[in-house]
Amino acid sequence: MAAKKAAPPIAKAIKPKIRHFLDLSDFDSSTLRKMIDNAHAMKAAGRRVPVAMRPEGIEDKVLLMVFEKPSTRTRISFDLAMRQLGGQSLAPLNASDLQLGRGETVADTARVLSRYGDVIMLRANSHEKLLDLAANSRVPVINGLTDLSHPCQLMADILTFEENKGKIAGSTVAWVGDGNNVATSWIHAAVRFGFKLRLGVPPQLNPPAAVLEWARAEGGKVELTDDPDAAVRGADCVVTDTWVSMGQTDTSRRKQLLGPYSVDKGLLRLASKDAIFLHDLPAYRGHEVSAEVIDGPQSRVWDEAENRLHAQKAILAWCLGKD
Ligand code: CP
Ligand code: NVA
Repeated sequence: MAAKKAAPPIAKAIKPKIRHFLDLSDFDSSTLRKMIDNAHAMKAAGRRVPVAMRPEGIEDKVLLMVFEKPSTRTRISFDLAMRQLGGQSLAPLNASDLQLGRGETVADTARVLSRYGDVIMLRANSHEKLLDLAANSRVPVINGLTDLSHPCQLMADILTFEENKGKIAGSTVAWVGDGNNVATSWIHAAVRFGFKLRLGVPPQLNPPAAVLEWARAEGGKVELTDDPDAAVRGADCVVTDTWVSMGQTDTSRRKQLLGPYSVDKGLLRLASKDAIFLHDLPAYRGHEVSAEVIDGPQSRVWDEAENRLHAQKAILAWCLGKD
């Protein structure tokens, strides 16, 4: 008698079709390029995304957002992005108000939320939770920041760079400061968008070795130094971020290590004459950046914050099936 064939696990049968947006490293370059081109076009079109650029049936689709950490930009720009795309969005949910905060598993939460909404954005304390949510969701999951990465921020940053300086491929970007979650997404972006990234980071706060190894294996132009001057010299764009990310407690150690990595006028002067300055915000003037830099003529941080909205319209459209 022939052995009974085991039924394929349902999750595996569904998963490949789901358009999660978890990390830039998961994508091929042309898919990301198309998303950025769509983001440029959506921004140019204004507050209503043209019907031709909207996913089919968008008017009946609902975005759910869950936050384990605070947010200003991400929660507001995702809500507005979904509305401007023609869809609907439920008020952002704080994880502490959900049963998730009392021990319901991420997997069960995913199973339930994905019966209600059509796309889920999660800001999570740990990247594992994001992956767990995606593995158990029937609908696309978007990474709205984890301890490991912040890919939506990078889509906005690429958009901002290109508005000011043309295509980013072949350019040089300097990251100065903590080798944190945003730095990891810059590394992913450098590889996928084909630009050179020089990281000036204290060795104690380097980005994860696995991320650097991934970039090397992919043939990316990612260089690491502990010298902020060397990182910035001749760069087309200088980027930094807070010294103390959400959830980190070793504040005084970080401030001590990162003191020499503050982006001030003297450091920015080493970059190319028309270099732009970016910061994902929130910013702490007098720490990672001086007021005269972030509030100065080379800063593009307010455009960058606005561009979260436009980049996320393109991300949501892709997740909901639009090519
Ligand atoms: N840059 C960013 O993600 O900001 P919020 O933490 O305010 O969402
Ligand atoms: N690295 C920062 C980014 C905030 C948007 C953090 O994780 O707190």
